[in-house]
Amino acid sequence: MTALLQTQGLTRRYAGLIAVDGVDMAVQAGSVHALIGPNGAGKTTLFNLISGLEIPSSGTVRLRGQDLTALPADRRTALGLARTFQNVRVFAAMTVLENVLTGLHPCRAAGLAATILRTPRFRREERALVERARAALDMVGLAARAGERAGGLSYGDQRRLEIARAMVPEPAVVLLDEPAAGMNPAETETLAGLVRRIRDLGTTVLLVEHDMGFVMDISDTVTVLNFGRLIFSGAPAAARQAPEVLEAYLGHKVAARLAARVQRP
Ligand SMILES: Nc1ncnc2c1ncn2[C@@H]1O[C@H](COP(=O)(O)OP(=O)(O)O)[C@@H](O)[C@H]1O
Ligand SMILES: [Mg+2]
Repeated sequence: MTALLQTQGLTRRYAGLIAVDGVDMAVQAGSVHALIGPNGAGKTTLFNLISGLEIPSSGTVRLRGQDLTALPADRRTALGLARTFQNVRVFAAMTVLENVLTGLHPCRAAGLAATILRTPRFRREERALVERARAALDMVGLAARAGERAGGLSYGDQRRLEIARAMVPEPAVVLLDEPAAGMNPAETETLAGLVRRIRDLGTTVLLVEHDMGFVMDISDTVTVLNFGRLIFSGAPAAARQAPEVLEAYLGHKVAARLAARVQRP
């Protein structure tokens, strides 16, 4: 079975360091796939390479088998790849609804002339887009806030706004970079429900997250990066017990002690 999203030999070098090192990762359609690893492991860089914000030193990114490696970020969005950022990036002075509408820019059909002349076709398209934006806001629980300034929302709400903006083009895959960061336990639980709903509506989810309870609870597959290398990919329960994963998180000595304790009768 070919994966919906696949990287092959994906590598990103900076002066003096390899942030992402020959990563072969396969994300299956219909799954929630978590990308974990210690700070500096290369998770955000891998997201940047997949979404087109950074150019790889070598390797490829494929969506439904199509090579995206040479395409700019907005073309990738139009082909079904959307994302959110580790640090919230909302347009503070714009309304919540306007922020969500920006998520549709890469997918607009109407040309420049139609936009300037405000043809009937343009106005029809505009109304349909506003409907879609409202539906996306409804999904994340922000429908009632559509007319407010985005900058006035709480941090957790701004994160949910970003998810709505990523989801409005109905992407095949959405990349969420630390969506639970800065959220309290109640907000994190709501977020878990939202991620499941996104998957059930047909969008595959690839997410970076440090909250292990959250990851173990919602993921179908876990991929672990350490020093830019993929060191594990498989079921969450197996990730928990894999010696190479324990070692990456806890260091060699602690991992060896834990392993010894598990083996003791
Ligand atoms: N633009 C950059 N220039 C140089 N080094 C970078 C750059 N971006 C990230 N890095 C380095 O690459 C490594 C991976 O970073 P990152 O992908 O942000 O890790 P993670 O998201 O897993 O914490 C780190 O050592 C980081 O310092
Ligand atoms: Mg990061």
